[in-house]
Amino acid sequence: MSGFALRLLGPPKVVEPRGDAAPRPGIGASKCLALLAYLTLEPGPHTREELAALLWGDSPDSAARASLRQALKRLRAVTGDLLRVDRATVALSEAVDCDVKDFMRAAEREPAEAARFHVPRFLEGFALRHAAAFDDWLAAKRQALLHRYEDVLRAAARDALGRSQWREAAVWAERWLACNPLSDEATRIAIEAAYLSGDRGAALAQFAAYEGRLARGAGVKPSASLVELAQRIGEDATAKAPARPRARAGSDEAVPAFEASLVGREREWRQLAEVWRAAAAGSVQVMLIEGEAGVGKTRLAEDFLRWARLEGATVLRGRGYDAQTDIPYSPVVEALRGVLDAPGLAGTPAEWLTEATRLLPDLRKRFPALPQPPAPADPGDRWRLSEGLAQVILAVAAERPTVLFIDDLQWCDGETCALLHFLMRRFERSPVALFATLNLGELERDAPAARLCRALRAEARATVVPLAPLSQDEVWRMIREMGRIDTPVGGRRLAQRAHEVTDGNPFYVIELLKTLFARGLLAADPETGAWLAPQVPEAESYKAAPMPGSVHDAIAQRVVKLPYELRDLLATIAVAGRGAATDLLSHVHGMSRLRAAALGDALVERRLLVEEQGVYRCAHAVIAEVVRDALTPARRRELHRAIALSLITIAAPDVTGELAGEIARHADRGGERAAAYRYALIASDAAAGGYAFEEALSWLDVAVGAATGAAETDDVNRRTARVLALAGWSEGGAPPRRPSRSSGTRRGIDRRDVDLEGRAERV
Ligand SMILES: Nc1ncnc2c1ncn2[C@@H]1O[C@H](COP(=O)(O)OP(=O)(O)O)[C@@H](O)[C@H]1O
Ligand SMILES: [Mg+2]
Repeated sequence: MSGFALRLLGPPKVVEPRGDAAPRPGIGASKCLALLAYLTLEPGPHTREELAALLWGDSPDSAARASLRQALKRLRAVTGDLLRVDRATVALSEAVDCDVKDFMRAAEREPAEAARFHVPRFLEGFALRHAAAFDDWLAAKRQALLHRYEDVLRAAARDALGRSQWREAAVWAERWLACNPLSDEATRIAIEAAYLSGDRGAALAQFAAYEGRLARGAGVKPSASLVELAQRIGEDATAKAPARPRARAGSDEAVPAFEASLVGREREWRQLAEVWRAAAAGSVQVMLIEGEAGVGKTRLAEDFLRWARLEGATVLRGRGYDAQTDIPYSPVVEALRGVLDAPGLAGTPAEWLTEATRLLPDLRKRFPALPQPPAPADPGDRWRLSEGLAQVILAVAAERPTVLFIDDLQWCDGETCALLHFLMRRFERSPVALFATLNLGELERDAPAARLCRALRAEARATVVPLAPLSQDEVWRMIREMGRIDTPVGGRRLAQRAHEVTDGNPFYVIELLKTLFARGLLAADPETGAWLAPQVPEAESYKAAPMPGSVHDAIAQRVVKLPYELRDLLATIAVAGRGAATDLLSHVHGMSRLRAAALGDALVERRLLVEEQGVYRCAHAVIAEVVRDALTPARRRELHRAIALSLITIAAPDVTGELAGEIARHADRGGERAAAYRYALIASDAAAGGYAFEEALSWLDVAVGAATGAAETDDVNRRTARVLALAGWSEGGAPPRRPSRSSGTRRGIDRRDVDLEGRAERV
């Protein structure tokens, strides 16, 4: 190796080998440096005439040759034996240590490594006087290097996308755009990477900026496919705006963003992609993502759905709720709302659209001429409703492959499960994928979802993806990214501790970190956002601090510390179960909608809530459960009552079945008998209208419990008989009844909690 190193990426300089030490003196004039750079980058012997013409082309020949001789002399003082000079030619040994050569070698081997070189800074600010030939060489060399660099960035960005490392891909795309701001492909990757990492706003901003650059620079428009990409992203109304950390300096309320790129899950991602491709090729597929609460099922699915959307999918998303709200079909109805603006919907035959309006009255907004579907007369007609919904999805899927995603399948009602099963069989040869997440720990053996899962698993087209907790290394990667930690020592210890305490469950990891922040055992640098452990004696640091007794305690501790108004609002949202819009919050709390939204946002900022299209709900079912558990029965009852009365005030005169069910449930639990009675009857009618007879009967159970006086009871009894007849049940064979809605039996999360304290003691 040479006894010196040449740095050409940046202002050129000769330095000690292997290091960016101060430039070594001795090289002197810039033409000498230029000569060294040229000989290094253009290996092989060069004639003296060529070199003289390159650097001193404007001088007479003899003067040029003399200057070259002098320069070679000075050069030898630096290069020693590496410089080989004879009468006719000059050459430099290949062994010269030079960053540009390092880059070229890396480019052959490992694009991601080569991408780290700052190639656009090649010979930055370097200029020679009277050396036109050198200037030409420099321009061509720079061009060629940038070209190579773009190749490298392209490969690195694509590779990062392939590994679903969106943020890394975004970094490479940004660098690429810095070299070539008009590159369509770089823009596409930048847009995709921003969107896939959850920042839809940034993705659309990238597109707008590119559009502007193109218009100014070349007076043209972006390519049609890029426009389509931006449109597809723009359509994703479900994408939530990423909550940005708002570190308010000096305030102990500053909460960093506990958000990392998707860590690990490479194998699962490949499985998902495979399943998706098979579905898109035209054969229905089922994918069940299974795992305990907090292990990252929703996260994996959501990230994947964004990717599928970019692949051209129509995505329909619905979810089951844990708060004993099994309103029939509600997860599918939520998902089906996605078809309202999906391409292809208009291809559904009118007859089937009419059937589908039983569950999706909003279809009338788009197709006002649709007639009312007839009231159910024969339980045998129930298939018509299922078929109607199938036809709607088929029409949409004929336009673009479609994903039907149901989060938390374990909480889905019987009607939803039966319908999903029907759809699966109906879609046999259609480009549809049914994705669902499932928490087996919360699945009762005889729950409808348990039966559905058993049936689905038996299908050849079903893939089950079990999700395991993260490894210690993955927890470290998560913490390193969230905390922008550069120094591995302390960070690794924190990760090790967090992994021990939480077993690698990412939700628990995040909750634990939040608790450490709330207790001042970790802090974020107000300038950089980087995490640091405040300088405290070892005995008081997080390493020694007792961990909260359980994850529930960790959350409860944070909730207790909230300002009263926020805690109050959070309680309402937790009790509301399916989420609460600002108008509901404003009614319940007697405040302006603006104020309610401001408080809601403050809770989003604290990672306790998420907001989607103006509706707030708890960021995780475990949070909702903790908040509900902390309320006294009297308080819970009052909240149900207030929610019921507010929903009634807000509701338009024509209450849908779904809303009626919600009102009835809250009124029932809030002791508002009259409202419970009235809305349970509406919910019952709506359920029966959708052939959900069992649900209709259980609403009638609520009504009979709330009925006052014999007349009302008689009315419920008559209705019950009617539904039983409709359902085709004779007097003798009463249908199996589910536990009454008002019995208050506890479903939902009843998990064995993680005992943080017990484990912490072992550490
Ligand atoms: N692989 C992962 N990488 C980074 N963060 C993750 C990962 N898996 C889960 N998380 C985070 O952990 C939290 C809980 O995940 P979530 O998907 O809600 O769990 P589940 O749906 O299984 O209950 C979320 O904040 C999520 O962003
Ligand atoms: Mg989930």
